[in-house]
Amino acid sequence: LPRTVLRLAARRGDLQGRITVEASTGADLTGLFDEIRARGPLALTKVGHTTARHAVVKEVLTNDALVTTRPRYGAGILGKLAAWSATEVMHPVQPPSLLVTEPPAHTRYRKLVTRVFTARAVEQLRTRTQAIADELLDGLDPANPVDLIETYCGLLPVTVISEILGVPPQERATVLALGAAAAPSLDLGLSWRVFRTVETTLNSFDAWLTRHLDALRANPGDNLLSRLITAREDGVGLTERELKATAGLVLAAGFETTVNLLGNGIALLTGNPAQLETLRRQPELWNNAVDEVLRFDPPVLLTGRMCVDDTTIAGVPVRRGRLVTTVLAAANRDPSVFDNPLAFDVTRPNARDHVSFGAGRHYCLGAQLARMEGEIGLRTIFDRFPDLQLLSGARRRPTRILRGFERLPARLS
Ligand code: HEM
Repeated sequence: LPRTVLRLAARRGDLQGRITVEASTGADLTGLFDEIRARGPLALTKVGHTTARHAVVKEVLTNDALVTTRPRYGAGILGKLAAWSATEVMHPVQPPSLLVTEPPAHTRYRKLVTRVFTARAVEQLRTRTQAIADELLDGLDPANPVDLIETYCGLLPVTVISEILGVPPQERATVLALGAAAAPSLDLGLSWRVFRTVETTLNSFDAWLTRHLDALRANPGDNLLSRLITAREDGVGLTERELKATAGLVLAAGFETTVNLLGNGIALLTGNPAQLETLRRQPELWNNAVDEVLRFDPPVLLTGRMCVDDTTIAGVPVRRGRLVTTVLAAANRDPSVFDNPLAFDVTRPNARDHVSFGAGRHYCLGAQLARMEGEIGLRTIFDRFPDLQLLSGARRRPTRILRGFERLPARLS
């Protein structure tokens, strides 16, 4: 979403801006979600429309008159400087990233990527993911308090993604450092300092990717990126820029989303011991528990679309040029879809109906991978440390559209 518009909206007390600003303080957003829902299926705000309703979120995300937006640099001198200094290198939310590409390019591009990111490929990563989770937990000393974000939730997803990208072990530390510094690019409202760090890091990451792709072409490995290099649709493969954009987006997703699923899940389960007890008695419910975590406290709070053709959504006319914000986290608590939506319930029969992975053509490519990592990551830590307890000092990340913990201090036993 254009970040300047949202910042201005927040200053004027408008709904869309308030969501992102309140999210960054770690506040409970339930009241705000209710406020949006009470304003109808598609509330008209100063900067566009917003919705908290499940059916309307799906309608927006599957309407062809609405397209994904990429952050624009603001007006004024800072915006001009930002636009001038913006690099042409791989950027997770700039074209040709899948996230901001639209048909027909998106259709061809997504088909090729989906060929490699198959359910089978994800299943093949299951054993390795389990081994990574075990290794990380082996390295923790149960006698000492630990920060679970730093030592576990933040490391599991990126280690799995390093496997996917075929990063050689000796280069992992470099890539992890680059990924961590570039990851804020997925969020909104970056300060000038963070923006500059992100841009510089993306340059270094781009240079590393050029070398890495050459190395994989010369010497392909058993990894998804090697397969993506050779994937063809009607004889045509991904361009170098598309390959880089995919690798960059996948890496950024590893830093910014699955880590939140694990952290939010640990916080919810330690805070609801009865639910954890249910999972101990019925471990077959772990799958469902992961979806309930995704429903109840989703790693991506909202997403937005720009209307490019006058249309009607939920009976409301939407004009070209209007911004439409879909509040995924609020739709997940829509009482017309989820009974008793404010209860965290691992046995909920329709937990999987959440919209935390979006909908329509931009539906999350990594949904199966994230579910698999979430299930292994959460089940393993609670199996190995049944007395796991959070300590004081948990801190939410000051992010605006992503939602998770920055610190999660815990005692393991
Ligand atoms: C797209 C959420 C993990 C790769 C999306 C979207 C959401 C999302 C909401 C759609 C955005 C929009 O419509 O504007 C999540 C959550 C995750 C997660 C909650 C973890 C719990 C991952 C992982 C990967 C990944 C691990 C890596 C493979 C992608 C890609 C897209 C995407 C490539 C763009 C797809 C397209 O535009 O066609 N994700 N994601 N995600 N996600 Fe994820």
